[in-house]
Amino acid sequence: MFNKRIRIKTLLAIEETNYEATVMGWIRTFRNNQFIALNDGSTNNNIQIVATLGMFDEALLKRLTTGACIRASGTIIPSLGKGQKVELKATTIEILGDSDAETYPMQPKKHSLEFLRENAHMRFRTNTFGSVFRVRHALAFAIHKFFNDKGFIYLHTPIITASDAEGAGEMFKVTTLPLDGTAPKNEYDNINFKEDFFGRSTNLTVSGQLEGELAAMALSDIYTFGPTFRAENSNTTRHLAEFWMVEPEVAFNDLEDNMTLAEEFIKYVIKYAMENNKEDMEFLSLRLDEEEKQKPQSERSDMGLLEKLKFVVDNDFERLTYTEAIEILKNSNHNKKKKFKYLIEVWGTDLQSEHERYLVEKHFKKPVILTDYPKEIKSFYMRQNNDGKTVAAMDILAPGIGEIVGGSQREERMDKLIQRMEEMHVPVEELWWYLETRKFGTCPHAGFGLGFERLVQFVTGMSNIRDVIPFPRYPKSAEF
Ligand code: 4AD
Ligand code: MG
Repeated sequence: MFNKRIRIKTLLAIEETNYEATVMGWIRTFRNNQFIALNDGSTNNNIQIVATLGMFDEALLKRLTTGACIRASGTIIPSLGKGQKVELKATTIEILGDSDAETYPMQPKKHSLEFLRENAHMRFRTNTFGSVFRVRHALAFAIHKFFNDKGFIYLHTPIITASDAEGAGEMFKVTTLPLDGTAPKNEYDNINFKEDFFGRSTNLTVSGQLEGELAAMALSDIYTFGPTFRAENSNTTRHLAEFWMVEPEVAFNDLEDNMTLAEEFIKYVIKYAMENNKEDMEFLSLRLDEEEKQKPQSERSDMGLLEKLKFVVDNDFERLTYTEAIEILKNSNHNKKKKFKYLIEVWGTDLQSEHERYLVEKHFKKPVILTDYPKEIKSFYMRQNNDGKTVAAMDILAPGIGEIVGGSQREERMDKLIQRMEEMHVPVEELWWYLETRKFGTCPHAGFGLGFERLVQFVTGMSNIRDVIPFPRYPKSAEF
C-alpha cells in the first residue's frame, strides 16, 4: 500500500511529538538547502520538513523545487524555528513528481487573480484558492445536511430537457445533428429535430424547478442541487454560463413560509462554514482586508468579512414589497442626484443590480427580501396576487452581491396558470405534464432557487464569481 500518509492538517493538530510520520504533498518553498514548506491542500498551513545538511545527496536537493511533489518520512519534533510548533525531521525524501523551477506558473509570490484565472489548472495550489474550494465544499455539504435534517428528499432533475423552465429563451442547444449545413430539413426548410437524437429539439436546463414541482406534488419536500446553464451574454462579476443552483420545492408552503425557509437556510449554511472552516474563513477575511485597502476610502465596506457574516446570521432580513422598494428608490438622493445609471421613474421597471445594492448596502444595511413584483417582469409560474398586477415572487438581495435567491409561491390554479402562459407565449401543449399536477390534486406550494456560486462569493468575500468555481464558463471562455 502506497498511501500511508498523515494529512498535514491532522498532523498539525496533534499535540505530542517524537513519533514517526509520512507526509506527501507539493513543495511551496525550499530555503537554505534545508527547509521545505510542504502543502497537501488539507489546510493552508504547511509542514516544515528539515533535510538536515549532509544527510541527502546534492542531486536530490536540486530537485526540491517549488511545485515538486514529494513523499517525506521521519520524526515529528518540536520546532526550533519560528512560525510552527512542530516539524518533520526527514529520514527519507522521495521525489514523486519533478517541477521545473523556471517554468512553474505558481511562483512563490503574490499573483493577481486575473493571472490565476488564466492558470486555473494550477490555482488550487495557492492559499486563496485552497481556502475558497474548501469553503465551497463545506457549503455544499451544509446544504445537504440542512435539507436532510429537515426531511427533504434530494431530487436529481434532468440536465437535458425540452422545456424552457424560465421562459426566457437563454438556452444552450443539445443536438447530435451535423452542424455543417447537412442537417435534415422539414417542409418549412427549418432543421428537422424529429430526426435528432431525442426526436425533438432539446437544450441544457436553466432550472430544475418544473420537474421539482412534479416531485413535490407527491413527496412534499424536495430539493435539487445541480448544474444549470444560461446562454445569456452577461460579462459581469456575478454571472456564469454554467452555475450550480439549489432549488427546494415545498408542498403546502405559501410565500411567507418560503421566505422563512430561505432565510433559515442561508443563515444555517453561513454559520456552518464559519464554525467548521475557521482557519480558512480567517484567512479569507484577512485577504479581503488587504484587497479593501487598495480601494479609495469611500468604496471600502465598513465591516470585515467575518463581522459581516456574523451580522447576517444574527439579524432578521428586511422584508418589503417591490412597491415599497420603488418608493424608497424613487425618493432616494441617489435617484434625485441621478447617480443611478438607470433612474427609477415608474412603477413596473425591473430593478438593476445598482438598485438592489443601494437598498441592501446603503438603505437597510442588511439582506433584504423583496416580494410581490409586477407580473410583467417575472416568470409565468408565479402565483398571481388579487390586485391583478403583482405576483407572489420573492428575491433575496445580499450585500455586495445583489440577488442571491429568486423564488415564488407557484400558481396552483389551472385556469389562472393557462391564462398567464398564453399571455406570455409559453407553449401550453408542450408543458402538458406540468399542467397535470394542477389537474390532479393541485395544492398551494412554493420554492426558490439559490445561486450556489453567489453564495460562495458572499461567504468567501471573493469579488468575482469566476474565482469561486473551479473552471468558470462565461462568454468566449471554456478553457480547461
Ligand atoms: O432567479 P432565477 O432565474 O430563478 C429560477 O431559476 C427559479 N426557477 C428558481 C426557483 O424558484 N426554483 O435564478 C435563481 C438564482 C438567482 O437568484 C441567482 O442567485 C442565480 O440563480 N443565478 C445565477 N448565478 C450565476 N450566474 C447566472 N447567470 C445566474 N442566473 C441566476
Ligand atoms: Mg431571478
